[in-house]
This record gives sequence, C-alpha cells and structure tokens, in this order.
Amino acid sequence: MEGFYFLSICCALLFFFSDISIAADTITPFQSISDDQSLVSEGGGFELGFFSPGSSKNRYLGIWYKKISVRTVVWVANRDNPLTNSSGVLKLDTKGNLVLVNQRESVLWSSNLSRIVENPVVQLLESGNLVLRDEKDVNSESYVWQSFDYPSDTLLPGMKLGWDLKKGLNRRLSSWKKDDDPSPGRLTYGIENLGYPEAIMRKDLVKRYGSGPWNGLGYSGAPEFKANAIFEITFISNGDEVYFSYQRAYKSILSRFVLNESSDGALQRLSWIDQSGGWQLFMSVPRDHCDFYGRCGAYGSCDLDETPVCQCLKGFKPRLTQAWNSTDWSGGCVHEAPLDCEKGDGFVKYTELKLPDTTHAWANKSMSLKECERECLKNCSCMAYTNSNISGGGSGCALWFGDLIDIRRISGGTGQDLFIRMAASELEVKDESRKKKRVILIVGVTLALVMLLLVMCGGWCIWKTNTKPKGMEIMELRQCLAVDRCIVGKIVHRN
Ligand SMILES: *[C@@H]1O[C@H](CO)[C@@H](O)[C@H](O)[C@H]1NC(C)=O
Ligand SMILES: *[C@@H]1O[C@H](CO)[C@@H](O)[C@H](O)[C@H]1NC(C)=O
Ligand SMILES: *[C@@H]1O[C@H](CO)[C@@H](O)[C@H](O)[C@H]1NC(C)=O
Ligand SMILES: *[C@@H]1O[C@H](CO)[C@@H](O)[C@H](O)[C@H]1NC(C)=O
Ligand SMILES: *[C@@H]1O[C@H](CO)[C@@H](O)[C@H](O)[C@H]1NC(C)=O
Ligand SMILES: *[C@@H]1O[C@H](CO)[C@@H](O)[C@H](O)[C@H]1NC(C)=O
Ligand SMILES: *[C@@H]1O[C@H](CO)[C@@H](O)[C@H](O)[C@H]1NC(C)=O
Repeated sequence: MEGFYFLSICCALLFFFSDISIAADTITPFQSISDDQSLVSEGGGFELGFFSPGSSKNRYLGIWYKKISVRTVVWVANRDNPLTNSSGVLKLDTKGNLVLVNQRESVLWSSNLSRIVENPVVQLLESGNLVLRDEKDVNSESYVWQSFDYPSDTLLPGMKLGWDLKKGLNRRLSSWKKDDDPSPGRLTYGIENLGYPEAIMRKDLVKRYGSGPWNGLGYSGAPEFKANAIFEITFISNGDEVYFSYQRAYKSILSRFVLNESSDGALQRLSWIDQSGGWQLFMSVPRDHCDFYGRCGAYGSCDLDETPVCQCLKGFKPRLTQAWNSTDWSGGCVHEAPLDCEKGDGFVKYTELKLPDTTHAWANKSMSLKECERECLKNCSCMAYTNSNISGGGSGCALWFGDLIDIRRISGGTGQDLFIRMAASELEVKDESRKKKRVILIVGVTLALVMLLLVMCGGWCIWKTNTKPKGMEIMELRQCLAVDRCIVGKIVHRN
C-alpha cells in the first residue's frame, strides 16, 4: 500500500516535470496547469494558458493561435472573474470537473458538469476546441464538455453557432468589453426565431442587425455569407439542432469570425496573411446604412441607390408623412388601399428583396407555394408569404404575421421574391395588365403556329382548287418529295 502511494507521488512528480519541459495537449487527474505552463494542440495550432490582455495586469485562462506573431485570443474561461496575480491553477477536481482555482483553492471558473466523470481527460484539439471526455468512453468524440459550446467573441471553423435543442444549449458570441477586458460587452450575435431562423446581432439587448432568414443558399440579406471556393458553410435546422457553421477548404488558412465592439460594433471575418504578418478583414456586418435593423420602419424598403434611402414599397405610403419627409422613417409605411380581409385581399409579388424580420414568421419545409398562398389567405393577420428555401428552384413555405419590417432591396440576383397582401382594388390594376398580357400571348401563339405550318409545308404542299364540272369542286393536294416525285391526292366536293 505504501509502495503504491510512493509510486503515485513519483508519477505525479514525473508528470509535473514533464509539463514544464514538453508541451502536452492533455490534462489527466494527476496534472495541472499553472500560470507559467500551457497546453499545445497536437499540430501546434493552438495554445491554452494564462495571459493578460492589452495593458491589463489581470490574468485570464484562454486559448490563442500558437503559430502567429500577433497574440490573438479566441476563447477565455474566466471572462467575468479574473485572477489578480499569477497564482491560478487549472486542474480536474474529484468529480471530474475542469476547474480554475486560485492559491486559496477558491474556484474562479468551472466546467460545471451535471454528472460525475470517472476517468476524465482534458485535451486541446487542433481545431482550438478544449474538450473533456471520459477516457473509457468508446466514442472518443462524445465530449462531456467542450469550449466550442461556450464561445467568447470568436467563431472558429467547425464551431456551431446556434442551438442544441435537446440540451437547451444556445451557443452565441458576445463581444469583449474592451481590448483589455474580455468580460462580456454590449454586443451579442446568435441564431434567433427558430420557426424561420436568422442571425441577429443585439446591442444592449436591442436588435442592431438581422441577417434575414436562412433561405437554403445563404442568409436572405447577407450574400457575403454564401459558400465560396475557400469557404464552406453548413446551416442545419431540424427538431434537434439549429446552427450555422463553416469550414475552410484549405486547412492552412487561418480564418475567424469575431464580434468586435470597437469600430462601432460589427461581426468581422478575418484571415491571417503571412506576407503582411497581420489579420485581413474580408467581411463586416452591418456593412452599410441599410443593414441597420428596421431602418425604414414597417413596409419601408431601404435602397442605397435611392435618395432618400428609405422608400415605401409600391402600393404603400408613409404613415406619418411629415416625419417621413424629414428623414424620420421609424413610423414606416401603410397600405395605400386599406386591407379588407372579408371582401377578399390578394397578393402582389415584390422582387429583389431581403426578406423581413422573422420574429413573427412561420415556415413549413414541405408545403408548395400554392398551398402557402392559400394558407396565408386564410388568416387575416398573415401579411406575406414566399418559398422558405430558394435552393433548387424553390420549395417550402414561409408566412409572416403582422407588419413587415427590416426589408431592403438587394439587386444583382441575390434578392428574393415576396408576395405581400394587398387590397382587392390594388389587384385589379394588375388583373387588367394580366388580361392585356393574355391577349398578347394568344395572338403571339397563333402567329407562331401559322409560321410553323408555313415552314413545315413551305415548298412541299401545293394546294390547287379547280372547279371542274358544274356543282363539283375538286381539291388537289400534291406533296412533292422532290421536283419529279409528287404524291397527288384529290378531294371532291359535290355541292
Ligand atoms: C494572489 O491573489 C490572491 C487573491 O487576491 C491572494 O490571496 C494571494 O495571496 C495572492 N498570491 C500571491 C502569490 O501574491
Ligand atoms: C457554474 O455554476 C455557477 C453556480 O451555479 C455559476 O455561478 C457559474 O457562472 C457557472 N460557470 C460556468 C462557466 O457556467
Ligand atoms: C433546400 O432545398 C434543397 C434542394 O431541394 C435541399 O437540398 C436543402 O436541404 C434544403 N435546405 C433546407 C435548409 O431545407
Ligand atoms: C476590433 O476592431 C478594431 C478596429 O478595426 C481593432 O483595432 C481591434 O483589434 C479589433 N478587436 C478584436 C477583438 O478583434
Ligand atoms: C412630403 O414630400 C412629398 C414629396 O416630396 C410631398 O408631395 C408632400 O407634400 C410632403 N408632405 C409633407 C406633409 O411635408
Ligand atoms: C407542413 O405541411 C404539411 C403539408 O401541408 C403538413 O402535413 C405538415 O404537418 C406541416 N408541418 C408543420 C410542422 O406544420
Ligand atoms: C392567425 O395566425 C396567428 C399567428 O400564427 C394566430 O395567432 C391566429 O390565431 C391565427 N388566426 C386564425 C383565425 O387562424
């Protein structure tokens, strides 16, 4: 017994020393990480350790890129609870929890597991994910806890932004308060409105930017989120999960999304450029005036090509004309011809739009556009409908209840169609033009048929009408395959 005890101490000491000399990527119950030590992922991509941001003297436990010269922290454990000196220790407690303690063993941060883990092992993966698992668990990817589930301000490739509905887990970004203070700031960015999900940025809980709903190809109002040659995007929405995630086509490219409270507050996508030794900005939302949430009010559409940028949609007028004229657009617009659900409204198609905010929207993946229209017509508070998924020719149904807000015009093929409820009187105008179109169509088709007949018969059919004996009409039909080879048919009419 005593021998075993002695061996344990030996082992512990051995591990202790090996920690200092070799950069390992795991912690087991015998090991710990103190202020001057760190974990390094297997490929050397990420490092976990203690740091002081900017000019701060506080110590935080975090993860940063190992290979680049500019210290770029991607995750912080004790955001709200800094250490004031270098006495912090990261270790596994007796229940298998990963804990950060100070000299007096008070817990500053914990992985807060809901169950006891018998054989815990903590590992910093090459993806930048710090994971805790049971070493005996056959499925090495079933993590009891992972840092990717508790993002700070950064979304790394492979992280999921959004919901695990089974666990009731919502992974969203929150900005650092300041460059030298990683505690949660005023900005958050996450997936909302799970009926028809979209990404929402809030500042002090107020909506600041909405991406528009996910339409199968991308966010309706954010074409820059689409996949491209170096950037793959996954968006999953089902009963278990609703999340956004991305991957790089080339693993050598370092790429991150970061929610940045300075520079007026934005979600930025940056890539590391070796030549310049710095992060290059590739994308930032909100990107312009029209991206700010609800800029033009209800039924107002924001269009950068117009002056002023806010215009009421066709068939709508400012609710408060005077305010609207003095560029206060918050009042939005109202139908020029009031709706009358009883008398029968209809829908007018608008094109090239960012779809409205989906807080009061609803979607069904299996309904057709026709069923969608019928469903919307049934409910007087349903104001618009369209396909919920525009990938592959369009499918599914999205319905909006109540006023439509946060619409902008998106030209260049990435905008969408939206069918908006209008009074019957507004539709008649359309109907008349439709009638005209129908007449033009019929005339066109007839002409085309005649032309076709002429082309097919041209040179081959020769019609002859002879009036031979009185009261008798003979029609001769001659079809010539060549000049000297004709088939002749006769039709005789007796009057
Ligand atoms: C570190 O800070 C803690 C709490 O503020 C204090 O109790 C402890 O004595 C300090 N340790 C050192 C080595 O300064
Ligand atoms: C862990 O639980 C404690 C007590 O419920 C809570 O104060 C703390 O914020 C939790 N820590 C984390 C990292 O969730
Ligand atoms: C959208 O439709 C495409 C093609 O039908 C399908 O492959 C895709 O899974 C759909 N996306 C969603 C989010 O339903
Ligand atoms: C936020 O943006 C500013 C200005 O672009 C930059 O100086 C700062 O380092 C960024 N902060 C983070 C956390 O990336
Ligand atoms: C607002 O502007 C429009 C167009 O410029 C003008 O016709 C209208 O009279 C103005 N209304 C008010 C109340 O200023
Ligand atoms: C979606 O529509 C289909 C077909 O109308 C229907 O069978 C299904 O129950 C609907 N799903 C939901 C969640 O409403
Ligand atoms: C219309 O839809 C709204 C929102 O889904 C719902 O609350 C309301 O009960 C519906 N009204 C009718 C008459 O179905």
